[in-house]
Order: sequence, then C-alpha cells, then structure tokens
Amino acid sequence: MNGLFITLEGPEGAGKSTNRDYLAARLGEQGIEVLLTREPGGTPLAERVRELLLAPSAEPMAADTELLLVFAARAQHLAEVIRPALARGSVVLCDRFTDATYAYQGGGRGLSVERIAQLETFVQGELRPDLTLLFDLPIEVGLARAAARGRLDRFEQEGRSFFEAVRQTYLERAAQAPSRYRILDAGQSLLQVQSALDALLPELLVRCRG
Ligand SMILES: Nc1ncnc2c1ncn2[C@@H]1O[C@H](COP(=O)(O)OP(=O)(O)O)[C@@H](O)[C@H]1O
Ligand SMILES: [Mg+2]
Repeated sequence: MNGLFITLEGPEGAGKSTNRDYLAARLGEQGIEVLLTREPGGTPLAERVRELLLAPSAEPMAADTELLLVFAARAQHLAEVIRPALARGSVVLCDRFTDATYAYQGGGRGLSVERIAQLETFVQGELRPDLTLLFDLPIEVGLARAAARGRLDRFEQEGRSFFEAVRQTYLERAAQAPSRYRILDAGQSLLQVQSALDALLPELLVRCRG
C-alpha cells in the first residue's frame, strides 16, 4: 500500500467534519485529490450499521454488541473503500477510526484495551493510520455545539463522566505515540483552528506527495 491514511478524531462537536472538508479543499488546491469518508459507515452496509449504533433505542445495547458492530462496520469499510483506495495510492481522510473505538468503547464504556487491540489486529491486520489529527476541546464546549445541531444520538445522550473518559483516552493515546498524532486546540474559533491546519499543510503536502 502506498497511499496515505489520515484520520480525524475527537469528541462530538469538535469540528472534525467541518475541518475534514476544509482540509480536503486546501489539499485539493495543491493538486492532491483526497477520498473523504467516515466511521462508523463509509459504505452502504456500514452506514446501516452506523444507524444501529447511533439510534436511541428502548432495548439497551450491550457494550460487547456495540464493540462488535463498530468492528463489523470497519471490516466492510476497509474491504470496500479504504484498502482499495490506499492500494491505488490515494490519500484517505477518514472522520473517526479505531482511536474512537479505544476512546468510546474503551474509555467511555470501560471495555478492556486488550480486547479492543485483539479485534483491531483481527480486522485491520497491520493497517494503522499514518497520521491522526486529534481535535481536543473541553467537553462542555463540544456538547453545546452538538446540542445546537439538533436531536442527540445514542452517544451524545451519555453523561459527563463518559465524555471525560473519551477525552482522556484520546489524549493518553496521543501522548503514547506522539509521532502519529497532531493535537489541535478545537475549542478556539473556527478561523483559529483552520489557521492551525494551514500551519500543518506543508508537512501534509510532503507526506501526501511522498
Ligand atoms: N471552532 C469552532 N468554533 C465554533 N463552532 C464550530 C467550530 N468548529 C465547528 N463548529 C460548529 O460546531 C458544530 C459541530 O461541528 P462538526 O464539524 O459537525 O463537529 P464533529 O464532526 O466533530 O462532531 C457545527 O455546527 C460547526 O459549524
Ligand atoms: Mg461529524
């Protein structure tokens, strides 16, 4: 595989989707075409699994079910979209990936890191993101932005301690592998976040062209 796999991570309302589009536009201006995708989802079947994961439901979803659904969707996304794109040499910009599983199902739900790591290897083999942009912000700020967006999904309905654990897990993972992560202060204004992304652009262009 010789493409480049970039993921965007962070809690609800951090600006991942907004900035994914911004980054794609900046790279596009420089002649780099990127494939935009997201998780859970990214293929018709995986988007149906996403609906199962996000829809509030009267029947509580067991944490293991949630974990397996996340990885089932990911297996489909990898097979149909991500691996073929990387094999073609494309730059893939993915809104959430397995760091989110460690943060939400690990940190948030309390599932063991070892269990998640086993599934990660089972589903992904050796494949890991080349670069991860972590949009970090105080949870109140992100939740207020998400609430302004409309009806809350099954995750957005969780409480404060869940989101604190999500945030801490992301930050701990970034601290453990600093070469893979770039942390952005997503609590700033959108203009400030975008100028931080502009500052990363030269490095990204070198890697995209690599
Ligand atoms: N830095 C920012 N400051 C203020 N509002 C923002 C900022 N970044 C994004 N938003 C707004 O917050 C909401 C959530 O952004 P979004 O990109 O959908 O976040 P995510 O994909 O991380 O959940 C959107 O309405 C978006 O316009
Ligand atoms: Mg989003």
